[in-house]
Amino acid sequence: MSEPYPAAAEPVTFASDEERRAALNFFNAAFRAEESGIHQAHELAHVVASWDPELAEVLRLYGDEEGWHRSLLTEFLGELGGQVQPMGRVTRTFYRIYARAKRLDTIVLTNLMFETIGSTTYRLALGNVSQPAARRMLTILTRDEAFHVPLNVHFLRRVLARDPGARPRLRRLYWLLFSSLVLLPLASRPKAFAFDRIERHTLMRAYALELGRLFAREHDLDLAPPSLLLRLFGISPAELRPGSGPSPTSVEAAERAIDRADVVV
Ligand SMILES: [Fe+2]
Ligand SMILES: [Fe+2]
Repeated sequence: MSEPYPAAAEPVTFASDEERRAALNFFNAAFRAEESGIHQAHELAHVVASWDPELAEVLRLYGDEEGWHRSLLTEFLGELGGQVQPMGRVTRTFYRIYARAKRLDTIVLTNLMFETIGSTTYRLALGNVSQPAARRMLTILTRDEAFHVPLNVHFLRRVLARDPGARPRLRRLYWLLFSSLVLLPLASRPKAFAFDRIERHTLMRAYALELGRLFAREHDLDLAPPSLLLRLFGISPAELRPGSGPSPTSVEAAERAIDRADVVV
């Protein structure tokens, strides 16, 4: 997907300067996520090329799509009257550790979990934000990131098939990332709340729920979420079990999102 971005018809304005600055923080965080996504996807494409050229091509396109998002966000930050800011301490630490990851399974699982909290945040923000230009941006991001989640589940399955011994380590990583990522709203809320209006507890619970749901239908992956943390947020096993319709992490879900123009956000 690399269509040009329709520039805002009128200047992007907010009710207060506080809201505008919070929007800048919000979309700066999104920018960093895209940037890390491009890097990791292209890195994976490079490694995978030797054993599956077609999968490598998918990974390359996936990275390119994150690149398209990055350029949209760069433009949009300008429309907001700001620019790309240096990363904060928490963000910097996260991405620095992640950039050091070398194992395929580690990169794919981390990517998958980042995509999940990203799409959860965009979707919740879309429910609260009324500024039209910001909504347009959020709609594109929500639509595409929701496609990246099943894509990464597919990558993970392919990587695990080649290295079944990686499972115990992956389970530990899943729990470690799970507990770290549900704490992220503690750092993000003071910065972005004035824009996205998502309460701290709401966002923490949503992260726990969506990260917990990730593998609820993918039994073959055998990755169960930390039940103590789920209980802490009042999430029951029944809530993890998806309702009717295809699982949002399935190949079916990805196929339904192939033509992005048909996706209803
Ligand atoms: Fe993206
Ligand atoms: Fe993505």
